[in-house]
Amino acid sequence: MSKPLNRVFSGVQPTGNLHLGNYLGAIKRFVELQNSHECIYCVVDMHAITVWQDPAELRQSTREVTATFIACGIDPAKHIVFNQSQVQEHAELAWVFNCVARMGWLNRMTQFKEKAGKHKENASVGLFAYPALMAADILVYRATHVPVGDDQKQHLELSRDIAQKFNVDFEASIAEAGFEDGFFPLPEPLITGHATRVMSFRDGNNKMSKSDPSDMSRINLTDDADAIAKKIRKAKTDPEPLPGDTDGFEGRPEAENLVGIFAALQDSSPQDVLNTYGGGQFSGLKSDLADLAVEKLGPIGAETARLIADPGHIDAVLKDGAERARAIAEPIMRDVKKIVGFVGG
Ligand code: TYM
Repeated sequence: MSKPLNRVFSGVQPTGNLHLGNYLGAIKRFVELQNSHECIYCVVDMHAITVWQDPAELRQSTREVTATFIACGIDPAKHIVFNQSQVQEHAELAWVFNCVARMGWLNRMTQFKEKAGKHKENASVGLFAYPALMAADILVYRATHVPVGDDQKQHLELSRDIAQKFNVDFEASIAEAGFEDGFFPLPEPLITGHATRVMSFRDGNNKMSKSDPSDMSRINLTDDADAIAKKIRKAKTDPEPLPGDTDGFEGRPEAENLVGIFAALQDSSPQDVLNTYGGGQFSGLKSDLADLAVEKLGPIGAETARLIADPGHIDAVLKDGAERARAIAEPIMRDVKKIVGFVGG
């Protein structure tokens, strides 16, 4: 039996507002991959509760992320869009992976260290085991490619380690079940484009993030034109003119960030942007960037708002997606159980 070729999986957490980093680093790529791959896009509500969530807000955020996916151009009829908790195989495989992954591997995860902060003992067990659930999300579909922003790279490496260790630990059993060359593919991260790490507008050394207390640090995908323009106008810069080429970004993270965002939004390269704006002041770049961002993001915000007004439709999309996702995950999980040695039909 062979492994599926070119199946894409990725997930986004329904915790608070989606922002420009989520769009350029992930969702815009999700849309592009639809032309060349079979894609599965998941709203990862089980990941969200690794940190306490208000139930009503979690429901609302889950629908909002789904609406944003569709508003950005993901087609839930051609591809699969669903929320994680509706497909029980994610949790089942995550348990098996909890038993494959090593404490030492998870202890090295920088995201856990950042999120748990100084009080590791108070963090949930789920937050620690999070990367094993993430590996299960991908591998329960035996997905081969995973589009993500740069901050997920370490988690993807761990997913590969888990897949590899499972294939080795159960080598004989996998062969007995009729699979050649291991059971799980080693999923490849797709971290591409010029905005794989969009930085905060307040500090070019920090990632743009939904948990930043300053709303001025990020553009939310629900921001209106005035808010987008204001945030770009007020974004931190340095006093020098823009460099003529990309070597000049050395030590100038704010310049690099704004130019990278510009390039990503208009599907060009940072050098192309510098060919127009190099040697000039930030104000010229910022004014055109504001227009470009409003042109690209405005319709997404408006369409998201339109879709969210009909939660019944969103829920139907998620239910249909979950059924189609289960049709793939269920037989794979049945094989996993056989391989591991669980008795059952
Ligand atoms: P999450 O919900 O934090 O972010 C969703 C996606 O947005 C990307 N991203 C960024 N990209 C560029 N610049 C930024 N400032 C920025 N901030 C966020 C993230 O890299 C991500 O691709 N653990 C994941 C969700 C997940 C998942 C998965 C992803 C769960 N299971 C399986 C892939 C495969 C997360 O918390 O993403």
